[in-house]
Amino acid sequence: MATQSRRLKLALVGLGRLGAIRARILTSQQPRIELVAACDTKPGSEEWAAANLPPSVKFFADPEDCMKNSDAEAVLISTATATHASLIIMGLELGLHVMCEKPISVDVITTEEVLAKAASKPDLKFLVPFCRRYDESYRAAKLMVEGGSLGEIHAVETTCLDQQDPSGFFVTFSAQSGGIFLDMGVHDIDIGRYFLDVKSGIANHKKQVNRVIAMGQQAVYGDLAKYGDCDNGWGMVEFANGKVLTTHLGRTLTNGFESTTRVCGTKAHSIVNGNSVVNRVEVRDSYGVRMATTADAFILYEKSFLNDLDEFAAAVLDNKPLTCNPDDAYEAAKICTALQYSFRNGVPVYFDDNGLPIMEPVEPAKVNGH
Ligand SMILES: NC(=O)c1ccc[n+]([C@@H]2O[C@H](COP(=O)([O-])OP(=O)(O)OC[C@H]3O[C@@H](n4cnc5c(N)ncnc54)[C@H](O)[C@@H]3O)[C@@H](O)[C@H]2O)c1
Repeated sequence: MATQSRRLKLALVGLGRLGAIRARILTSQQPRIELVAACDTKPGSEEWAAANLPPSVKFFADPEDCMKNSDAEAVLISTATATHASLIIMGLELGLHVMCEKPISVDVITTEEVLAKAASKPDLKFLVPFCRRYDESYRAAKLMVEGGSLGEIHAVETTCLDQQDPSGFFVTFSAQSGGIFLDMGVHDIDIGRYFLDVKSGIANHKKQVNRVIAMGQQAVYGDLAKYGDCDNGWGMVEFANGKVLTTHLGRTLTNGFESTTRVCGTKAHSIVNGNSVVNRVEVRDSYGVRMATTADAFILYEKSFLNDLDEFAAAVLDNKPLTCNPDDAYEAAKICTALQYSFRNGVPVYFDDNGLPIMEPVEPAKVNGH
């Protein structure tokens, strides 16, 4: 059939850590997508593209040139977070379908501007994929939730703990990342919203959250205090329907990467990634019984990077529905911004009837990270 054989012409903008994985998946594991162009502003990227991508993929050093002149009908933005909003708007204005890595922006107002632009282009697909929603284990847990075998889901508890990076790269990166609650926590907030059915049981659909509170420490990386950031943060969210989400985010784990989600129901709990082991091999030696831990999130969610591209292609080519709506990115961004504010200022943050976090402008002296 014509629709089945047509391939989506896509440009990939950003060839960094994640962009390189995307490029590999796009060129070898996406039968419905044709990667027509790749772009990165970093010196040396053209050489990287020549060595790693098929010759049919045209390289551009400028994103606007790429979006205008590559013959692409869609763009995947995988650049640094601070550039997402302007590149999304550029893509939509040029008539391209847009998929962009999370988050849209580190501030709520910019996120709103991007969503307004996307809403003004209803014929263009816009996807910000939260990778856990595309992971098969989370999908299996979601099926259990929907099937009712866990009873009523009243709470979700998550941990997302990165392996300690001795180079401390993320300390200076913190200035642009928006802080741990936004950069890392957005996945945990999203997966909590996904399981907690936060739009049900509320009269005012704009107001999904009552209040949040966050605490944090600089347990290893003291310099994070300069950026109002922490290396271990705890957040609690009380949704307007009474359901509760708690999360522990960390960057100091020494054994590897761990990311666990406990879905608490009245009949049963389900736990995803209770033990983040690399395989089923144990070593039994003078230290006891040991198993190797997953090194990072990329290994755990490899398949989800394939599934979200698949879904994006089906949305554009066949008008199939998307798992993540722009509103999901907006709601998660508001909660994360409120958590970061709560941690920085040592106060709970309440949400108003329009669903916006009530936050006073931050005085520099108060951004102390304690
Ligand atoms: N699970 C997930 O959903 C997930 C995982 C990792 C990263 N991310 C997100 O993906 C994005 C990229 O992360 P990363 O770790 O690959 O970052 P990175 O710094 O390794 O790569 C970003 C690349 O974008 C390029 N770039 C920056 N501005 C550009 C511009 N205007 N035009 C073209 N190229 C530009 C940089 O030169 C760099 O090569 C981030 O926003 C991050 O939050 C999402």
